[in-house]
Amino acid sequence: MIQTTQSLISHLACAKCGTKYSHDQLQTYATCCNQPLVTHYTKGQMPNPDDLAKRENSMWRYAEMLPLLDQNNRVSLGEGMTPIIPLKRLAREHHLENLYLKDEGLNPTGSFKARGLSMAISKAKELGVTECIIPTAGNAGGALSAYCAVAGMKATIVMPRKTPLIFQQECQFYGAKLILVDGLIDECGKLANQITHDTGAFNVSTLKEPYRLEGKKTMGYEIAEQMKWQLPDIILYPTGGGTGLLGIWKAFQEMRALGWLTDQPLPKMIAVQTANCSPIVDLINGTASSPGSYTMSIANGLSVPVAFGQDMIMQVLQASKGGAVKVIEEEIKQGVHEISAKEGILISPEGAAIWQALKRLVQDEKIQPHQQILLLNTGSGYKYLENLN
Ligand SMILES: Cc1ncc(COP(=O)(O)O)c(C=O)c1O
Ligand SMILES: [Zn+2]
Repeated sequence: MIQTTQSLISHLACAKCGTKYSHDQLQTYATCCNQPLVTHYTKGQMPNPDDLAKRENSMWRYAEMLPLLDQNNRVSLGEGMTPIIPLKRLAREHHLENLYLKDEGLNPTGSFKARGLSMAISKAKELGVTECIIPTAGNAGGALSAYCAVAGMKATIVMPRKTPLIFQQECQFYGAKLILVDGLIDECGKLANQITHDTGAFNVSTLKEPYRLEGKKTMGYEIAEQMKWQLPDIILYPTGGGTGLLGIWKAFQEMRALGWLTDQPLPKMIAVQTANCSPIVDLINGTASSPGSYTMSIANGLSVPVAFGQDMIMQVLQASKGGAVKVIEEEIKQGVHEISAKEGILISPEGAAIWQALKRLVQDEKIQPHQQILLLNTGSGYKYLENLN
């Protein structure tokens, strides 16, 4: 059932200087400052938050605060409204009183990338796009391929050659053209730019297109709604390009402005990376390396040497009084085994990384055992088994 609710989108704006860009045309990023574009909304008729429960069980229940104008353009496979699960056994063992996990692995194509790409492809369809291209660490490529398949669009996926086979094969099943590259996602990005230039395909690279962020922000709306409008103290998020983290924070700001959140402190946002590729952690620690020194991780999604939204990520970590932590590859592998065996969730390596980071932060007394802790498992571990043997 599709709601008749109207989007309250007003305009896009440069994340740095605020220069306005129209939402009536296809947009990429803010060329004024070489920064992402952020979507803004007007004040208008909003539901009472308690009435949301009557709406459809997907991320599209927040349609007023999403950019799609005509719901007939929606390209959806049922993304969102993933469960928040208490991790009871792990909590007991580690003396944590309030430990929860939102399982994004249950989304179509097995990751939170479904939210962003459902939104981006819906909006691209609305604006007349027929062909898309994406540089990807793995999950975004599968999601783009699937949504382009439903939309009847052509898709080209540019992926590191070392990505596990299943990420490659799913794109081909969905009918996309797959191009493999020696190197990480930054190298894929360069080739995708070249192909965009040559073919005119629409490039949906992370934060170089405005609406993936809008899809991902629905995680933040859901967290608030599912936790009965009382946000957790701490959110740990595995951070590559940063859209997940940024989207959740954007949702919190919007809900504050809507009056949906009572006067409460917002959660501390903790970005978790792998020691193989930790540009945000290194930037904070003043030990930044050249992008070429970072290597592939078993958590493919964290193998992002350069984040286009780096300035925005730093602002969120600072504003939320959070921080950034890195864990090593062996810890990530152990984390997958521990969570699977104790909680029955075959978590992605990215999700396992945040569990290991949490244990360290508790040990270092940076997180207290009584605090409400929410882990975002961004993907299903089923696609990564090749990395975990
Ligand atoms: C499972 C998983 N987790 C986390 C990330 C990182 O997400 P973001 O780029 O939004 O920081 C990715 C990106 O590929 C991913 O696939
Ligand atoms: Zn600007």
